[in-house]
Amino acid sequence: MILVSMFSSLDQLDNLLKTCCLKMKIDTSLTILQVPEALSQAGLQFSVATEEDFDEIMAMSQDIYGGLDYLPTRYTSWLQEINRIVILARKHGKVIALESVCVIDGGETALVEGLRVAPQERGKGVAGVLLRFCSELVKSRFPEVKVCRLTRDDQLGPKDFQKYRIITKQGILLVRFRAEDLKLRLSELGQADDIQSYLSTTSTNPTVRLDHTAIQRLYLTTDLMHGVLPNATIIQDWQPFKLLPSNMSILLKKEIDWMVDDEANPTVGSLCTFPFHVPIGEDWYYLNIDMFGKDLNLVRQQFLSHLQRHTATLKGHVMCQMFLDPALWKPMADFCLHSLHVEL
Ligand SMILES: CC(C)(COP(=O)(O)OP(=O)(O)OC[C@H]1O[C@@H](n2cnc3c(N)ncnc32)[C@H](O)[C@@H]1OP(=O)(O)O)[C@@H](O)C(=O)NCCC(=O)NCCS
Repeated sequence: MILVSMFSSLDQLDNLLKTCCLKMKIDTSLTILQVPEALSQAGLQFSVATEEDFDEIMAMSQDIYGGLDYLPTRYTSWLQEINRIVILARKHGKVIALESVCVIDGGETALVEGLRVAPQERGKGVAGVLLRFCSELVKSRFPEVKVCRLTRDDQLGPKDFQKYRIITKQGILLVRFRAEDLKLRLSELGQADDIQSYLSTTSTNPTVRLDHTAIQRLYLTTDLMHGVLPNATIIQDWQPFKLLPSNMSILLKKEIDWMVDDEANPTVGSLCTFPFHVPIGEDWYYLNIDMFGKDLNLVRQQFLSHLQRHTATLKGHVMCQMFLDPALWKPMADFCLHSLHVEL
């Protein structure tokens, strides 16, 4: 997982776009967006996504993220967010691509999400055209935006580094289990000696769940989390947020468990997004845990604590994705395989 930012200034963005020669007047009441000539020549029409487009978008998204697509769960709420645009590209009237841009960091960052192109249209430059179209749209609608950020899980080449600067990298550990099985395994382990060594290395409780007041205090009014977070960035389920009050308001509206090992002197912190249904199957859920910090023992403890809390109520298959310091990937993968007996 690589978090990157693009266009460190609007001048750079202008340079990048100068070949496109885009001229647009954006009217929020329009559903069909005016398309610059260069883009309409590519045979694409652009529109603002609506509720009615849902089925068509899902039809072209079937293979995405190995069945772990978050869009079905988020789509309706995305359409309501005032600081977000969701744009569709159509060819011969049929939806072939989608991108969403959300403005965060107090208005200065455009966060690109949801990018997808229909399988039969990939490799023809559609994503590039859509990205440029959306950049122009954002520039016009949110003129205070200075940079664009996104998270990618593919390999970046030299060409990409001409436009991206890396914010940080996180390892991605994906494990699969049945909630009922894991619950049983956790209770077996709870009685066994080996798990005790993970769960109680200190006399104080090493897994402190934070309420809203504690979160605000720790993340905003002190600099205690700066050294714990990668590049002082809160990454929540693929979204990178700077430590700003406006971002905190966005994050505190979401269903997330926030945890640290020690409120007065944190070494590891984590955000566990509440499980949600994913399209891979009827009773399949996605559980996302963003882990910050480098202490393996504390990371294990917070991981177990999140699993314990969420498997208590969940029934069915779970794809649990943990984002963590790359150096911890291997020991945590070993722990998942050999102690938790879950599948990688
Ligand atoms: C990734 C995907 C959108 C690329 O679509 P495509 O039309 O084949 O891509 P193109 O040939 O137009 O790619 C070229 C442009 O897209 C950009 N791009 C490719 N993958 C990207 C990604 N994951 N995030 C942001 N931009 C990406 C390239 O940097 C390039 O930009 P440029 O034109 O400025 O150089 C497509 O393969 C897809 O839908 N994959 C499944 C969903 C997915 O993995 N989405 C990525 C979300 S992280």
